[in-house]
Order: sequence, then C-alpha cells, then structure tokens
Amino acid sequence: MEKRIIVTGATDGIGLAVVKGFLKEGCRVIGIARNPAKAEKIVADLKNDRLSFQFGDLSSVRSVHDLGLALNRLYGKEGIDALVHVAGAVGTHRETTADDYERTFAINHLAVHQLTDLCLPLLKRRPGSRVLVVSSRAHKVGIVHFHDVNLKHGYWLLTAYAQSKLMNVLYVRDMARRIDPRMVSFYAIDPGLVDTGIVTKTTPGLERWIWSWRRKAGEPALVPAGHMVRIALDPVFAGVSGRYWKNGETIHPAMLSGRVKTMNRLHALCDDMIAKALSRPVLPKSPDPALPDHR
Ligand SMILES: NC(=O)c1ccc[n+]([C@@H]2O[C@H](COP(=O)([O-])OP(=O)(O)OC[C@H]3O[C@@H](n4cnc5c(N)ncnc54)[C@H](OP(=O)(O)O)[C@@H]3O)[C@@H](O)[C@H]2O)c1
Repeated sequence: MEKRIIVTGATDGIGLAVVKGFLKEGCRVIGIARNPAKAEKIVADLKNDRLSFQFGDLSSVRSVHDLGLALNRLYGKEGIDALVHVAGAVGTHRETTADDYERTFAINHLAVHQLTDLCLPLLKRRPGSRVLVVSSRAHKVGIVHFHDVNLKHGYWLLTAYAQSKLMNVLYVRDMARRIDPRMVSFYAIDPGLVDTGIVTKTTPGLERWIWSWRRKAGEPALVPAGHMVRIALDPVFAGVSGRYWKNGETIHPAMLSGRVKTMNRLHALCDDMIAKALSRPVLPKSPDPALPDHR
C-alpha cells in the first residue's frame, strides 16, 4: 500500500528536503505550511501529484486545532503512516503568540504535542506507524522552566530554544511509554548542524551574522533528511520507540530527558495550556511575525 506521510516545516530547509526524500521513495506527502505562496511555488517546482499541502500557523493553538480537524476529515478513514515534525524557530527577542505563549515554545513544542494528539487516530489506523520529532543537540543544555515556561524573566535565544528541544525529547520518551510501539513508535532526531536559514528568519544583528558564517560548516539538508526518511520507512526501525537518533544511529540524550516525573508534568502542562487557549477568544494580534507579509 502507498505510504501516506505528513511533514511539518515542509516549505524550507530540512523539512523541504524530507518532503523530496519521501516523494523519491514513492510516498504520498502532505506538507504543512503557513505560507500558501511558498507552498504553491514548491508544488509548481516539484511537479509531483503525490504532493499536497495543508495550511496552519503552528504558533497558534486554534490554528493547530483547525489543522488537526482538517487532517482528520481528509485522512480519518484511511489513516497515515508517519507524522514528521520538522517545523521550528528561534528568536533573539522574546515574542508572544496570539495565545500569549512564548513563541519558540509554542512552535517547537506545544504544536508538536497538540498536532500529534490530533493525529493519533490517523496513526493508529495504520499499525506500525511512526512519529519523528526533530530536536537538537541544544537540548543537552536545556531546562524545563516549569515556573516560567513562557520565559517572562531572563529570556535568551538559547534558553528558549534548548528548553523547547529538551521538551521534544521528553515528549518522545513519554509517548513511547504511553503508546504501544506495535501501534505507533516515536523517534527524536538530532539533525546535526545543517546549512539552512533558520536563524536568519527572526534574528537581526549579531546572531544573524554569526549564523551566516556558522551554517557554512553545516551539512546540506538532504543528509539528515535521508536518515529521517529511512527511520520513517525502513522495517529495521519498526517499534524501536522512545530513542534519540543521529545519523541513523541511536545515541544518548540528556539525562534530564529520562525523568518520568518531568515527562508527566510537561504532558499535563501542555494539555492544560492547549485547553486554556482553546477556551478563550483569540486575542486581536498579528500572526507569526516571521511570516513574510508581517516582516
Ligand atoms: N539547521 C540546523 O542546524 C538545525 C540543527 C538542529 C535542529 N534543527 C531543527 O530542525 C528543524 C528545521 O529547521 P531548519 O533549519 O530546516 O529551519 P528552516 O529552514 O527555517 O525551516 C523551518 C520550517 O518551519 C516552518 N515554520 C516556522 N514557523 C512556523 C509556524 N509558525 N507555522 C508553520 N510552520 C512554521 C518554516 O516555514 P517557512 O518556510 O514559512 O519559514 C519552515 O518550513 C527545526 O525544528 C530546528 O530547530 C535545525
């Protein structure tokens, strides 16, 4: 049967390379994008009728909710084989989302938690399905700031980014405990240093300049993408749930990512923040500032 894969962050960098990798393997790919013009251009360039896009702003709980409902309407009967979370962001300055949550946390982790939850019925329709979450080596210097998860105090680019990426690993290990791996398996991915424009999107000044040099030492996006496509499709990786992967091999994640108490606390916190955001009217605020139209 043809494999059906959902990929977030499908319009740039590692995500776009992952999309191309799955198409090469003959899969049907549903890319998730926030910018329709960018998605249209990719569809026109790739000229592959197995590629389509669904839209949503992953910084907004309401938008992720609507996206999840749309995916359930479209694929609820037949299910999906993999959900690959690649979308991510960093920011020099603290910014808040329409839900008044810190933006890095909202995009890099809360959306992963919420979209996975909404896609679980689709994944369970195809036993042996897989969820990949792109984390980062930066998770090793991360701490979950339970008393100030939105980092109102002491915001710094790395504090926010490392926190969100540690949350990703905690979540993968948490879900591996909660869900039978014969149904759905979870994989945290370290893509290594990759030559993409991620830091340049919302960071002016020094950080932008440093990244423009640093990215030159990175691998082309197709390298980590190749490993991710293999982990999502190859029977060798079936059921190996809850591990942290780099270059197609499992390596040790941070010790902090193995604490069951922290996993449970984070899970409950995210559920609570999602429920709160859905229960209140959306604040009259512009969407994600990284959208080209809002720069
Ligand atoms: N590059 C590295 O060296 C590196 C290292 C470790 C981990 N990572 C991780 O790898 C993942 C991909 O990063 P990348 O380097 O490929 O970055 P990238 O080229 O900037 O791609 C990020 C993707 O996420 C999408 N995105 C960002 N905010 C979004 C939102 N609010 N709603 C929907 N989509 C959104 C972007 O959409 P647009 O196309 O519209 O901007 C883009 O498609 C991230 O999770 C990152 O943390 C990267």
